[in-house]
Amino acid sequence: MIVAIDGPSGSGKSSAARAVAARCGLTYLDTGAMYRSVALACLRRGVDPDDAEAVAGVARDVRIEFAPAGDGQRVIVDGEDATAAIRTPEVERAVSPVSANPSVREAMVALQRAYGERGGVVAEGRDIGTVVFPSAEVKVFLSASPEARARRRAVQRGGGDLARGRDVPVDAAAERAVLEDLVRRDEYDSTREASPLRPAKDAVRIDSSDLSFDEVVDRIVRLVEAAEGGPHERA
Ligand code: DC
Repeated sequence: MIVAIDGPSGSGKSSAARAVAARCGLTYLDTGAMYRSVALACLRRGVDPDDAEAVAGVARDVRIEFAPAGDGQRVIVDGEDATAAIRTPEVERAVSPVSANPSVREAMVALQRAYGERGGVVAEGRDIGTVVFPSAEVKVFLSASPEARARRRAVQRGGGDLARGRDVPVDAAAERAVLEDLVRRDEYDSTREASPLRPAKDAVRIDSSDLSFDEVVDRIVRLVEAAEGGPHERA
């Protein structure tokens, strides 16, 4: 069973994919973390993210592993725990040109398919249903309005977690800055030549702007159940 969840930043796909994987007994695969890991490795090795050839070399050479930890997952880059380091603003700035690099995509897609071959995967990203796993049994395109996505990201950065019902007050200026960054990244991800963000023709579209986290997860779990032919209990 392969479940592909694509969508823009802040649509809630990471939290939803993690929860769906837990409820359905599948393995969660965060492909955005892979592109972030390549970007981090470039920064650590002093490679300019816009130097396509040097970045391609890093992508072929870097070791990216996922290690289960409690109810989460650690990201190990070249043998070192990089779970927090791949979420910094520096990495966020470097990751757009890195993920638009066709050689990087080729290396990451090969890695993702190797994970998929073991079966039982919920993978989330931008091109999972269109390029990586075009024959996934379940394909979802999860979106939300830019405003709803910016608010979620701002809450997350302030230490809140809307998926777990932990809201925190956020500064309006901080929220606006997140919104501007999101709109810029959306534009970049959707218009790049290599695997632009777009829904697969056969993806089920879910707009999460006005849905609770549990409602989103329930909808996806129902699609998995329909594909598998059996219900999954709530965790
Ligand atoms: O989902 P995220 O914010 O962690 O993704 C980080 C970057 O990687 C983002 O700029 C889009 C890119 N990405 C991609 O191009 N293809 C994927 N399958 C996943 C992420």
